[in-house]
Amino acid sequence: MSASVLTSVRNPVSPDTARAQHHARLRPIGVFDSGIGGLTVVSALHRLLPSENIFYLGDTARVPYGGKSAATIERYSLEISGLLLAEGAKAIVVACNTASALALGRLQETLRVPVVGVIAPGARAAIEATRNGRVGVIGTKATIASGAYERALRQLAPDLQITAQACPLLVPLIEEGLLEDALTEQHVARYLEPMLGAGIDTLILGCTHYPLLKTALARRAGPAVHLVDSAHNCALAVQRLLAESALAAPDENSGLLRVALTDASDSFLRVAERALGLDVGDVELRSVQGVHSAV
Ligand code: DGL
Repeated sequence: MSASVLTSVRNPVSPDTARAQHHARLRPIGVFDSGIGGLTVVSALHRLLPSENIFYLGDTARVPYGGKSAATIERYSLEISGLLLAEGAKAIVVACNTASALALGRLQETLRVPVVGVIAPGARAAIEATRNGRVGVIGTKATIASGAYERALRQLAPDLQITAQACPLLVPLIEEGLLEDALTEQHVARYLEPMLGAGIDTLILGCTHYPLLKTALARRAGPAVHLVDSAHNCALAVQRLLAESALAAPDENSGLLRVALTDASDSFLRVAERALGLDVGDVELRSVQGVHSAV
């Protein structure tokens, strides 16, 4: 008989403890983004972990975060995390590259639940994908200026050649639903030019909005460039974390998705819902301003 079986025979779990553990595993994963873009992460989580309950908060009243200061993004992230903890979140997923780049460290130090961002998983996946050691990163101004991807990539592969490009016009184009449009094509071509010129074979989509533009980006980048989608890799990191911390929902649970926004939902929510094949259902309206992170 193995040591762990002997331990559980000698110290059987009390019914109260078993009930508490079961309850903890059913608590939702709290996911947030500056707006709707983080639904790409929700979609990846839902596909990979269909038993998990998910509570999503999109801060549509204050989107975009991409041009804001680090102090403001940190404050917003703490306020939202306070609301997610009040909703019983067992873990928090920062489904926003900008908030991951500028606030993840503070959230991990401060919050009493595990916090996962999108940058480290994306960097790991890019290292696994590249063959020629030349990697491109696209993201918001704040994400690119923070250098967070460069740091995460260099920690794993110091000799990598990295080309980073801020693409401030892509989020507004996506939010306008112009996923397949000549104007979008033009901007994609302009933003990708320096990295294609540098001979990248891997491109990190360093903004959770960008998977919605995957078709246009792939067309421009060509078949030789591997696109790394931070949403899928973040979902894999959450799967690992929940398994390690014995917090994964029971297999028989059918995961519920609740979506809340800080401003009335707009047409982009329906664009994303269609593009991602997600059933968002009724959207709650919530306020997070001035909420204290329940630390
Ligand atoms: N979804 C955010 C990200 O991943 C970008 C949108 C914004 O600028 O707020 O960085």
